Amino acid sequence: DWIMKDHINEAVQAIREQVGDEEVILGLSGGVDSSVAAALIHRAIGDQLTCVFVDHGLLRLNEGDMVMDMFEGKLHAKVIRVDASELFLGKLAGVSDPEQKRKIIGGLFVDVFKAEAAKLKAGGGGHKGATFLAQGTIYPDVIESGGAKSKKAVTIKSHHNVGGLPEQLGLKLLEPLRDLFKDEVRELGVALGLPHEMVYRHPFPGPGLGVRILGEVKKDYADLLRRADAIFIEELRNWKDEASGKSWYDLTSQAFTVFLPVKSVGVMGDGRTYDYVVALRAVQTSDFMTADWAELPYGLLKKVSGRIINEVRGINRVTYDVSSKPPATIEWE
Ligand code: XMP
Repeated sequence: DWIMKDHINEAVQAIREQVGDEEVILGLSGGVDSSVAAALIHRAIGDQLTCVFVDHGLLRLNEGDMVMDMFEGKLHAKVIRVDASELFLGKLAGVSDPEQKRKIIGGLFVDVFKAEAAKLKAGGGGHKGATFLAQGTIYPDVIESGGAKSKKAVTIKSHHNVGGLPEQLGLKLLEPLRDLFKDEVRELGVALGLPHEMVYRHPFPGPGLGVRILGEVKKDYADLLRRADAIFIEELRNWKDEASGKSWYDLTSQAFTVFLPVKSVGVMGDGRTYDYVVALRAVQTSDFMTADWAELPYGLLKKVSGRIINEVRGINRVTYDVSSKPPATIEWE
């Protein structure tokens, strides 16, 4: 609509004025905020923007390729994809404590991003070097960082809006979404041509599958989890609620699969299996501080469980988490 077009024009104008002919770096995660910020800034300054997408190897199935297809393929934005999965998995080997895992993933993430940003800042090859760091900070983040934070609130802050990073890198800050609420960011994203599925995605934690594999993170576990989770999400998107016409993906606030590193006995054909277990988690919440487990239709659960067990060799049992928050948390770690 025209109001949104006006907003976009104004924002584009403001970005052009602030940036001039300088160059901008943005950490792209594939999440809503950084994606919308990237699309908006790209609309304003095109190739003066370079996005850095750090793949820590703990993303969902095909997520990295989807981010590249969208931003490089469709929007023709400059995106540097850093495949750091071996580095992350290496440092996570033998570590099973959840907070320790978060620290390692968050710390490495910042290191890898900083190294890329430093290269871009140095310029060369026809580039003068970047002078701005763009972040997808939105209004609630601005308020949150002013007020008191819980321990978890500090640790859960998305990697890309890391306080102090611009100063450490000697870059000026560009935050075009600072005045917007989440709904407005989503509308802006759609108006900028980002797909609905991308803009209305459930939140995904910065440490990714690292906190959805209980205990020690291993590549084999991550591979199994990715395939099981993709089936769950696909079926949630396909399964429509008759009364509202909405999909169960849209009727839930967050839904995902958790890998449990325990084995249980099963039977397949003439033989016994001894394979891993996954838990499905789906919640409804307005603020993520409290949450109810979602009363998913039995038919949906049945389909998901049947598909996971048949299609993902190595998983022979699927459970559904019926715990609300509090006292349980949404994630399992
Ligand atoms: P919990 O599990 O505390 O989760 O009920 C509340 C919300 O926060 C997300 N979450 C995280 N997000 N880094 C993040 O960026 C994290 O370490 C992290 N831990 C939890 C969780 O997915 C849910 O939306």
